[in-house]
Amino acid sequence: MVCLGNICRSPLAEGIMKKKLEDNNIEGFVDSCGFESFHTGDSPDRRGVETALKHGVDISKQKSRLFKVADFDNFDKIYVMDKNNYRDVSAVARNEEDLKKVDLIMNVVHPGSGMPVPDPYYGGASGFNKTWDLLDQATDVIIGQINNKTFLKE
Ligand code: 4NP
Repeated sequence: MVCLGNICRSPLAEGIMKKKLEDNNIEGFVDSCGFESFHTGDSPDRRGVETALKHGVDISKQKSRLFKVADFDNFDKIYVMDKNNYRDVSAVARNEEDLKKVDLIMNVVHPGSGMPVPDPYYGGASGFNKTWDLLDQATDVIIGQINNKTFLKE
């Protein structure tokens, strides 16, 4: 799960996905990262921590880290939140195989739409609720894909 700062959107995406894997007894590894070093090592944004807690998910222990090229080897899929994140990840892809792993996360709900998960950093708490709702929809679809074995078949 990739965004820019790895303190707002992708930590929520990591937290919600981990919770759903657990709830569905699915073994899997999820992590999140960003492309902006300003917040490296920081905990997620307090507004995001509170939003997740309202849904029974604790993301407070996460720490922001930067994307690394090895992530292409370590993960089957790389979900980004918006087109800027897509551009950032694509720019360091080494080959077509790397590139094939990258997708906008909302494309799993609305295929080909290019719909973003908007950055809630500069807004109020409602932005984080919107972020949660979008990621909740997307991760439901991803869990469905894993359960019906279509997750890696694109
Ligand atoms: P995120 O939001 O990409 O969802 O973590 C941001 C948080 C901080 C910054 C940018 C985006 N920043 O530039 O500090």
